Amino acid sequence: MKISKRLQAIDSLVTKSYQHIWDCCCDHGQLGMTLLQRGVAGQLHFVDIVPSIMMQLRRALKQQFPVQQQWRVHTLDVLDLPLDEVAPEQPQLIIIAGVGGEQTLSMVEHLLAKFCGHNLEFLLCPLRHQYKLRAALQKLPLALHNEILIKENKWYYEIIHLRKSSNVYPVASNPIHARGSLMWDNATELQHDYLQQTIGHYQRMLKNSQASITEHSAIQQTLSAYLELQQSLNS
Ligand SMILES: C[S@@+](CC[C@H](N)C(=O)[O-])C[C@H]1O[C@@H](n2cnc3c(N)ncnc32)[C@H](O)[C@@H]1O
Repeated sequence: MKISKRLQAIDSLVTKSYQHIWDCCCDHGQLGMTLLQRGVAGQLHFVDIVPSIMMQLRRALKQQFPVQQQWRVHTLDVLDLPLDEVAPEQPQLIIIAGVGGEQTLSMVEHLLAKFCGHNLEFLLCPLRHQYKLRAALQKLPLALHNEILIKENKWYYEIIHLRKSSNVYPVASNPIHARGSLMWDNATELQHDYLQQTIGHYQRMLKNSQASITEHSAIQQTLSAYLELQQSLNS
């Protein structure tokens, strides 16, 4: 199946098998189908809130993946995922891609709080508000596993793989940085261009902003973090 560069990049970060993978906000289901084809999930759960999308997807899955134990279709709000149907110690990978940073955050916060004893991993590819999202994720019991930056057409995407922190995988040795960390390693033109664009975005926000003093200082803080990063990449 031909999938977008962004979905290929998310797929590439799934480097081991899981008994349960949840393709949340799956829409067309292309990512989940690619993972199914690769055989990295005991069971692939397709989740979207729109019934008509899920009816169509179920039909496509029946045709392309006749072994029905391999997949399930859930017409659900991500906030209602039944993650407790799986034993707490069993790792579950929850992929949330293609929704805004704020919505991504509320889903992660909710699932972590509701299933606090479960062994959860998150693979996130938010649209917009990446700094705000990471800054809030820092406050949760999550450790960074991997992180990449890609560009498709003229859009940049940050993809973040997080694991629930544990004694084996502590936050202290794998911290989340609000401006990202691993994705800036060995920076190429791609990273430099994205950083310049991001800095320009926050500079314009500061100039045009009708924001309150608190919002203004948050924008200033974000801008400073990116400027500092630029200095360190250039030194
Ligand atoms: C732009 S599509 C993303 C498709 C795919 N994940 C991707 O990255 O290409 C967003 C999908 O999220 C679904 N969605 C939005 N909020 C949701 C929620 N709370 N629970 C489940 N699905 C949701 C929408 O119905 C839509 O199909």
